[in-house]
Amino acid sequence: MEHRGATASEEPFVLGIETSCDECAASVVEGGPGRARIVSNVVWSQIDLHEEFGGVVPEIAARAHLETINRVVGEALAEAGVGLDRIGHVAATTGPGLLGGLLVGATFAKALAASAGVPFVPVNHLEAHVLTPRLTDGIGFPYCVALLSGGHAQFIAVRDVGDYRRLGGTIDDAAGEAFDKTAKLLGLAYPGGPSVERAAREGDPKRFDFPAPLAKRAGCDLSFAGLKTAVRLAAQKTAPLTDQDVADICASFQDAVARLLERKAGAALDAFRDSEGEAAPTLVAVGGVAANLVLRGALTRAAEARGVAFVAPPLALCTDNGAMIAYAALERVSAQSIEGDGRVRSRWPLDASAAPLLGAGKRGAKG
Ligand code: KG4
Ligand code: ZN
Repeated sequence: MEHRGATASEEPFVLGIETSCDECAASVVEGGPGRARIVSNVVWSQIDLHEEFGGVVPEIAARAHLETINRVVGEALAEAGVGLDRIGHVAATTGPGLLGGLLVGATFAKALAASAGVPFVPVNHLEAHVLTPRLTDGIGFPYCVALLSGGHAQFIAVRDVGDYRRLGGTIDDAAGEAFDKTAKLLGLAYPGGPSVERAAREGDPKRFDFPAPLAKRAGCDLSFAGLKTAVRLAAQKTAPLTDQDVADICASFQDAVARLLERKAGAALDAFRDSEGEAAPTLVAVGGVAANLVLRGALTRAAEARGVAFVAPPLALCTDNGAMIAYAALERVSAQSIEGDGRVRSRWPLDASAAPLLGAGKRGAKG
């Protein structure tokens, strides 16, 4: 009984399952909107399986989810010290993401919910990312999010649960994709983001003059494709590359991304103020790329210049996890506004009214 709070009878535990990409994750969360507690959080990463391919292979990911999901969910329940009889809702990501993995997680969750006699709650993966600061920091609505991960790069005005306005986003690659491709080009280990950040520490950010694409264009759309080409040309021109050359290219690339994000996050905060009629009290960075300390610094500067607070959830809750799925379900259950028919979908934009952005990511515009 030790995990039950005073209001536990109205607020049973929520089990959340995440399988949309290369993390097989499950978590038990309890509490209410803005005051929830993570009781257990188990993440099994498939990075090792995809490393030699330099990116996530959908078929391998789906099979691996199928082989691990039972164990991961079992561990999440065991760590929480709760049996299935104490779970009030079973949630799973039903999109956007890779269909094979989504099918494994959603089917498993539906079967579990049916056997426990509780509702299944379908969750939008992007919504789970953008609601995370309410789980980790208990922040109130509204706020402005920079969602920067392997499949996304967008700025979003978060007004309420289910009420999102996309302020701008990438017109070509996702933010993490730019890091992963740069790393691959330079022969650095997958996933590229941490490798590039590590190499950049020894490098000179001013040696190569890489462009900050769309910097001069108004608004807060992003672009990374031109930057990737500039990195490739610099590498070809400088080859054969010494370790110092690689470090300098990484530092110069990261500096260009930081300059771009500082400017565009500033533009996003301005767009938020104009469209919402009030300044955003908080800028939040979520997604794996938000782990980058140089980029966090750039986003902090953009926020501080406008008197806006900057929040970034702990790294483990920035990258894909089950706690954010359980928490998003908890918000939806509490608002009595469960969305989606439970069928999995590869695309599921947060702001359905926003026009599709060109290209937008290797996984076919997750956003
Ligand atoms: O959010 P995430 O774990 O998965 C998705 O939903 O996509 O993000 C993974 C992405 C990868 O592209 C990875 O290279 C990038 O986040 N990443 C980073 C860093 N750590 C992870 N990018 C830049 N700097 C980092 N330190
Ligand atoms: Zn994600």
